[in-house]
Amino acid sequence: MIPAPHNYAITTMSREEIDTAIDWAAIEGWNPGLHDADCFYAADPTGFFMGKIGDTPVAAMAAVRYGAHFGFAGLYIVKPEYRKKGYGIQIWNKGLDYLAERTIGLDGVVAQQDNYKKSGFRFAHRNMRFAGTSKTNQNLSPNIRILSVDNFSSVHEYDKNFFPADRENFLKKWIAQPGSFSFGFFMHEKLQGYGVIRACRSDYKIGPLNAETPAIAHEILIALTSKIPAGTAIYLDAPEPNTEAIDLAHKHGMQFSFETARMYAGEFPELPLQKIFSITSFELG
Ligand SMILES: CC(C)(COP(=O)(O)OP(=O)(O)OC[C@H]1O[C@@H](n2cnc3c(N)ncnc32)[C@H](O)[C@@H]1OP(=O)(O)O)[C@@H](O)C(=O)NCCC(=O)NCCS
Repeated sequence: MIPAPHNYAITTMSREEIDTAIDWAAIEGWNPGLHDADCFYAADPTGFFMGKIGDTPVAAMAAVRYGAHFGFAGLYIVKPEYRKKGYGIQIWNKGLDYLAERTIGLDGVVAQQDNYKKSGFRFAHRNMRFAGTSKTNQNLSPNIRILSVDNFSSVHEYDKNFFPADRENFLKKWIAQPGSFSFGFFMHEKLQGYGVIRACRSDYKIGPLNAETPAIAHEILIALTSKIPAGTAIYLDAPEPNTEAIDLAHKHGMQFSFETARMYAGEFPELPLQKIFSITSFELG
């Protein structure tokens, strides 16, 4: 490894610089959401790092603090022409320092899993991306309601069952982002599941999709996909241990297309994977 030059410095990203990192993610083929930067920034405005040589941005990393006990690492990218020169590992270490004392989660691509093991991360499970197409004109369950500021407190409370920390600021933005649709399934005024479908650089991604039962997840999925022009590509990121989620994807004509390894450094969080039908995002957990 060649030592990084002396004028390589790592700073906290401005909101605009997060756009640059998202552009790099798009170049990597990760197809980010159109409003990811705004939502990500709300999660932790000081949790995004950029490595620069002089004024030139060359490396990015998200290290988002979700409270005092959990953090998530993502958007770990070095511009292709600057790779294998030691820039990546430096920003990585900076991000991990920022998340000190916390359990840290990540979704690693296959090529990077050995590196993450070296950094103390342990494999938890695969997340499997399924790709399919939307269908319209489906009958929606009467239990389905649009999520908005009016019922946000239900979503906020419910989401705490599915994520290792409170992510109120992020969630508020995520469910209300332009070009997205968010639905909850209510029974006797109680939320029993919810999901979001968001517009991406191309097509739409579903996440999260959390529900008490596969039947409820199915109803939410129908509601989400019915909002998208028929025939549009849609993606769902299911945790592999949830075989019902994989069945749901197949039932909706979706095919396995990509995978990540969910890994953690520190104590593994206890999550009800059987009720998680799609994770929120590979970048922020
Ligand atoms: C992954 C990536 C950011 C690494 O950046 P890089 O600048 O090329 O890496 P470096 O030159 O700093 O690596 C230096 C050394 O640290 C290791 N290293 C890099 N990141 C590491 C990590 N997170 N943990 C442990 N070791 C790591 C490298 O393997 C290398 O080891 P070596 O000297 O024994 O070969 C870069 O390859 C990239 O942008 N890839 C495409 C995007 C991507 O896949 N990101 C990961 C998504 S999960």
